[in-house]
Amino acid sequence: MKGVVLAGGLGTRLYPLTRVTNKHLLPIYDKPMIYYPIETLVTAGVEEILIVTGGNNAGEFLRLLGDGKEFGLRHINYTYQEGEGGIAEALRLAEYFVENDKVIVILGDNILEHDIKTHVEAFKNQKEGAKILLKEVDDPQRFGVAEIEGNKVTRIVEKPQIPKTNLAVVGVYMYNAKVFDITKMLKPSHRGELEITDVNNAYIRNGEMTFDVLDGWWTDAGTFESLYRANSLMAKKKLKNIEPG
Ligand code: G1P
Repeated sequence: MKGVVLAGGLGTRLYPLTRVTNKHLLPIYDKPMIYYPIETLVTAGVEEILIVTGGNNAGEFLRLLGDGKEFGLRHINYTYQEGEGGIAEALRLAEYFVENDKVIVILGDNILEHDIKTHVEAFKNQKEGAKILLKEVDDPQRFGVAEIEGNKVTRIVEKPQIPKTNLAVVGVYMYNAKVFDITKMLKPSHRGELEITDVNNAYIRNGEMTFDVLDGWWTDAGTFESLYRANSLMAKKKLKNIEPG
């Protein structure tokens, strides 16, 4: 299983914080943001990782992460996304790296309380298709929102004005290598991007999508509110861990 961390984009929702640096290099409590998705992959047993970055500060990732030794990796791979073409476009750049393997994709601003090992193990044992992770949230209209019937996800709607459920699609996606054929058939959305939700709906239409609901908290960090929440949740988690008793 290969791992891909998506850390491109201009982070314009965080201006002026991101005017001279990449969003994924901003601090979340005691570490740069990108450390957390890398740790999420490493603790799930993923050893081959590709960082997709972009914008004006791509070189900083190499200075920060080097060869990945700090994470217990033998090596870390990098590639560069030109412009702002969306998550699914960034994923296309990983095709040469993934080849015929399975891949787990994580958005560089998604921070999770717990490891995702059991979900990744379940996907390793899944023959075909894809798996997504869902989480109940108070503000589903900010996310891709999943509609469910029994143990099947029937549809994902990207940022619906009137969400049918409170189940947000977490920015952690597991795919077989067919994902690259799917990304080649996508058309840009109204925001001019290739949407990961369109990729996931293609798997749903083929009857090849499974889902798990996540335990523990999850947050993104791409707006001032969510960046602040990510910091305070992580601070609470780490301070709790060092409290005596
Ligand atoms: C993206 C996805 C959305 C997903 C979210 C998770 O949203 O499009 O489906 O729920 O990440 O963080 P964006 O950050 O591009 O607004």
